[in-house]
Amino acid sequence: MPDITSDDGAHLTEKTRTYLATPGEDRILNNWKSIWIGHHDAKHVHAKLDMMLKTPPSSRPKNLLVYGESNVGKSTILERWAEAVNQKAAVAAEAEDPETMGDWAVLPVVRVQTPPKGDEGRLYDNILRAMGFPLPISYSASAKCQTVLKLLANNQTKIVMLDEFHNALSGRFDQRLHFNVVIKNLTNEAGIPLVVAGVEAVEMVFNKEDQLHRRFSRIKLEAWRDNDDWRKLLRSFERLIPLKHPSSLAQPEMATTLYEVSSGRIGDLSDVLREAAIRAILSGEERITPDMIQAV
Ligand SMILES: Nc1ncnc2c1ncn2[C@@H]1O[C@H](COP(=O)(O)OP(=O)(O)OP(=O)(O)O)[C@@H](O)[C@H]1O
Ligand SMILES: [Mg+2]
Repeated sequence: MPDITSDDGAHLTEKTRTYLATPGEDRILNNWKSIWIGHHDAKHVHAKLDMMLKTPPSSRPKNLLVYGESNVGKSTILERWAEAVNQKAAVAAEAEDPETMGDWAVLPVVRVQTPPKGDEGRLYDNILRAMGFPLPISYSASAKCQTVLKLLANNQTKIVMLDEFHNALSGRFDQRLHFNVVIKNLTNEAGIPLVVAGVEAVEMVFNKEDQLHRRFSRIKLEAWRDNDDWRKLLRSFERLIPLKHPSSLAQPEMATTLYEVSSGRIGDLSDVLREAAIRAILSGEERITPDMIQAV
C-alpha cells in the first residue's frame, strides 16, 4: 500500500482520490476507461440525441450522422449516452413493474457495428446479438429482419446506432445501393431513427447520394484548437487522472506540447496521458512531466 499523505490528491475529484490507494500501473489501467469528460461537443451531440429520443415514432424518421476523423471521440460520445439511457430505462422499468418484466427487457438504444460491405444478414446478426437474441446463421435475411422488427417493438427501442458506418462503403456499387434500401426499410418499418457514426468519407458519400442526403442531419466532430478550451480539457483530465501530485497540464508550455503530440485529437491525448501517467507512478514522481510526455 503506497504512503498517502493528507495533501496527496487535493487537486483530484473526490472519486478519483479514492483510486490513489491502488499500487503500481493498475491504478491507471483499471480506471482509465471510466474517465469521461462531458465537453462542449459531447454535450451538443447528447442534446440532439435527447431530442431524438423524445420524438414520437414516424413513418419517415429523420436520422443523424455523426462524423469526423478517427479518434475525435465519436464512438465514446454515442456509447456514453446509450449506456446512460439504457440504464435509466432498465431501472425505471424494474421499479414500475417488477412482476411482468418477464423476458422482455426495455432497451431504448441498440448500438452495433456496421458490418463490412454493409452485409444485410450480418447487420441483422449484430442487432440481434445486441438485443441478446442471436439467431442461427442459416436463417434467411428476411426471417432475421422480421425478428429484428419484432424485438425492436417489444423492447421499446427508440434509436438504432450504427457505428463504423464507413464499413458499409467498402462494398461494390450494387452492394451499397442494397444497403441504402436495407436501412431505409429498417427505419421506415420500425418507425425509429438511425444514428450513424463514421469517418469523413461517409459524409462525402452522403452528399452524393440524394436519398441519404435528405434523410440524415449531421454533426461534425473536429479536433481541438490550441486555445482556452483545450486548456480547460487538460484541467479536466488532470482532475481525473489518479496521481498524488498536480502536473499542471494546462500550463502554457505543457499544453502546447500535449497539443503537438496529439494533434488536438482527444483519443491521441488520452493515449499519451495514460502512458505518461503510468511512467509517473513507476518513477515515483507521481506527476506527469514534459519529459514523460516526450518519451511516450
Ligand atoms: N469525452 C471523452 N472523455 C474522455 N476520453 C475520451 C472522450 N472521448 C474520447 N475519449 C478517449 O478517446 C479514445 C478514442 O475515442 P473514440 O474511439 O470514441 O474515437 P472515434 O472518433 O470513434 O474514432 P474512430 O473513428 O477511430 O472509431 C477513447 O477510447 C477514449 O479513451
Ligand atoms: Mg469509433
